[in-house]
This record gives sequence, C-alpha cells and structure tokens, in this order.
Amino acid sequence: MKIFIDTANIDMIKEINSWGILDGVTTNPSLIAKEKTDLRTCVKKISEIVDGPISAEAVSMTAEEMVKEGRELSAIHENINVKLPMCTEALKATKALSSEGIDVNMTLIFSPHQALLAAKAGARYVSPFVGRLDDIGQNGTEMLSQIVAVFRNYDFDTEIIAASIRHPMHALDAALLGADIATIPYDVLKKMVLHPKTDEGIKFFLADHEKSKKK
Ligand code: G3P
Repeated sequence: MKIFIDTANIDMIKEINSWGILDGVTTNPSLIAKEKTDLRTCVKKISEIVDGPISAEAVSMTAEEMVKEGRELSAIHENINVKLPMCTEALKATKALSSEGIDVNMTLIFSPHQALLAAKAGARYVSPFVGRLDDIGQNGTEMLSQIVAVFRNYDFDTEIIAASIRHPMHALDAALLGADIATIPYDVLKKMVLHPKTDEGIKFFLADHEKSKKK
C-alpha cells in the first residue's frame, strides 16, 4: 500500500518524507486554509520536497471551469493531479481532463456507486472518505471494501485512496482490504510508529548494554 500524507503543512511533509516511507501528498481547501497559504504556492513547495503524486483541489463548479482550473493546476508541476468533488459536472470534467492525460482524483466519495462512475469517467484516483461516513453512524470501512471488490471485478486502472483516515485502525483496515493508497494525517502516522513494548524493549536493551560495559 502506498502512503500519502493528508496535509498542506510543509514542516510535517518534510518530517514524514525524511522517514523514507512517503509516496505522495493530498491537500484540500480546508487543509490549505489552515496553513494560511494559497494553493498554488503550497503545491509548488510540496513538489520541491516530495517525488510523488500531489493532489490539488479545484473549486470550480461547472465542467468547463473545472477543466480550465484543472489544466492550470496540473501545469504547476508534472506530479500534480487535480482533485474534483464528485458530481455530474466533475464526471464530465474528469472525462475531458483524463483524455488530455491530466490525472484526476475524484474526492468526496461516499458510496461504491460514486466510485464506479468516477472510474468509468477515467479518474486516476478515487478518494472514499472513511472517517466522515463513520461520523454519521455508517460504516466507512464497509464502503471501502465494496469499492475494492467492484474495482477488482473489472480490473480498473483507477487507484483507491482511502481518505478521511482518523486513527491507525483505519490505516490497517485500508491495508487489509487492499486499498492502493491510504492518505494519512501527520498525527496518525506518528501513532503508527509507536508501540509500548518497543519503547520498553529499547529501554531494557540500553540498560543491559550499560551493565555489560561495566563487567
Ligand atoms: O483530504 C480529504 C480527507 O482525507 C479529509 O479528511 O478528516 O477532514 O474527514 P477529514
């Protein structure tokens, strides 16, 4: 499973990239606003740090405007793909952009039906929001598993990005189900490194090493 970080924070991206495990980055307008930056400056900076796909979200609401905005965003760097929110206008724009060789990440996916349509339109990625479905008492992991099953049935090229990951169990579910990618927030990635028995083990090994030096 490829691991993307879901943030627009440059320091966090640099830190996680330094671990050697980072395959790409996803941003959205809320994450950009949190960093008090603008999308274009931000994704350009990210492209100088990470050698992998970077999602930049368009905010246009008609297919024609989405295509125009998508072309502008993808021209910033060859690794940039255009995030479009699931709707009929975005399906039309996805068809147009993908036929020009511009990668689209169809976002705000909450059902296998939406994912199927996005793949049919030529989306390079679909982003099912696992956590936000859990938030309203539905089963985000079940939705993800249905999308994985549908895409396997038809061998679509579209990659599944498990998104709206809120805790390490969501990341594990994505890996167990065979999602191609999980886009994971910084704090969840930090939690994934940790295990109390690892910390305890390091402490004991270092203490025993000190003891053996004294002999
Ligand atoms: O970037 C899209 C998605 O991962 C957002 O997550 O936590 O705002 O639902 P969240």
